[in-house]
Amino acid sequence: MHEPFFLRGTLLYSSSPDTIEILDDGWLLCRDGKAAGVFRSRPERFAGLDVLDYTGKLIIPGMTDLHVHAPQFSFRGLGMDLELLDWLNTYTFPEESKYEDLSYAEAAYESFVTRLTRSTTTRACIFATLHLPATLLLMQKLEDAGLSTYVGKVNMNRNCPGYLREISTNQAIRDTERWVVESRERFSHTKPILTPRFIPSCTDDLMYALSRLRAKYDLPVQSHLSENLGEIEWVKELCPRSKFYGDAYDQFGMFGGGYPCIMAHCVHSNDAEQELMLRRGVYIAHSPESNMNLASGVAPVNQFIDRGLHVGLATDVAGGSHESMLRAMMHAIQASKLRWRLLDQSVRPLSFERAFYLATMGGGQFFGKVGSFLDGYELDAVVLDDAGLEHPQPLSARARLERMVYLADERNIAAKFVSGRKVL
Ligand code: GUN
Ligand code: FE
Repeated sequence: MHEPFFLRGTLLYSSSPDTIEILDDGWLLCRDGKAAGVFRSRPERFAGLDVLDYTGKLIIPGMTDLHVHAPQFSFRGLGMDLELLDWLNTYTFPEESKYEDLSYAEAAYESFVTRLTRSTTTRACIFATLHLPATLLLMQKLEDAGLSTYVGKVNMNRNCPGYLREISTNQAIRDTERWVVESRERFSHTKPILTPRFIPSCTDDLMYALSRLRAKYDLPVQSHLSENLGEIEWVKELCPRSKFYGDAYDQFGMFGGGYPCIMAHCVHSNDAEQELMLRRGVYIAHSPESNMNLASGVAPVNQFIDRGLHVGLATDVAGGSHESMLRAMMHAIQASKLRWRLLDQSVRPLSFERAFYLATMGGGQFFGKVGSFLDGYELDAVVLDDAGLEHPQPLSARARLERMVYLADERNIAAKFVSGRKVL
């Protein structure tokens, strides 16, 4: 393990959903890859330690993208004229089928991983495609980049074109098991997560078989939930015994409760569905830009936080057009204001503090103690340089951070650390 060291600069990190701790000239001690104290000056007893000096720059916790589709990165910013189910059939499935070809996957995944590395994201929960070789290729690239991720080989065997469908349930389970075993052997910070695409893409027998595999290898699960009204109606027809969409996953044993589970979107989750997510500890991946692009709606994200649900932010590329979690924060705030103004005054707009919390600590929790500089948290950190964004007067650290969310891009990211490892 590396020697302990200090990061010096302007530190900003959440200690709760509504509180950002700020040290204008702060010293963050990193020991064994973890945050081991923040100080206003260097303590005498640590006089000999190395200092990475970022004085004048902002140092924030790394961000967690709780839901993103790596193979869709190649068509981000395209095909924004359809709703979910038509969008999948028209643009998404044809694009994802290309990852059967490893040379296409090589080029496309290289650009995804490069851009992700240059972003504020240090952790991500990622959908690949159903193709096993391309999924392992993606995982190797993420491992080499030093990011900490969960990656899912997608499972889908119905209501999808023949060219993008598991050959049979048995074959799907054999492939998935082989992928779980191989990726666990090969990678240390790139982990497998079971990934049934969503209920409409998976037959009952596939879901039950995945649930058994989940238990055998104690795997986490990720999928999509209550994103689009047409999708929800369809699930009622496909699973007539379910009381609501989330209950359908639950009946298959694929809705958390004793193991980690992420559901993306939850735009239209009713009270009963939210109640079950709370009981099962399900994480909600709030994806505001995607929900606007696909005209899905706006999830009541402040209500989720008030009710004590686990929630984080997600780009959901290519439903979302950009890998930037700063943009995801901006879109979450903006969408919540329109929802409040136009739809429902009972759920207040999202504050800046809460948006920052969601992007760091809220989603980071899925990975353990991640997303803050409180003692014992994994040392995931991003150094932001706002020197080029001139302002006629000095600004407070809080104001500088807010401005970065609206104005920064990858050129403003000066350095990045994951569990104390420098990755950029
Ligand atoms: N539901 C099922 N598949 C997808 C997908 O690829 N993107 C989004 N946004 N929703 C989905
Ligand atoms: Fe998605």
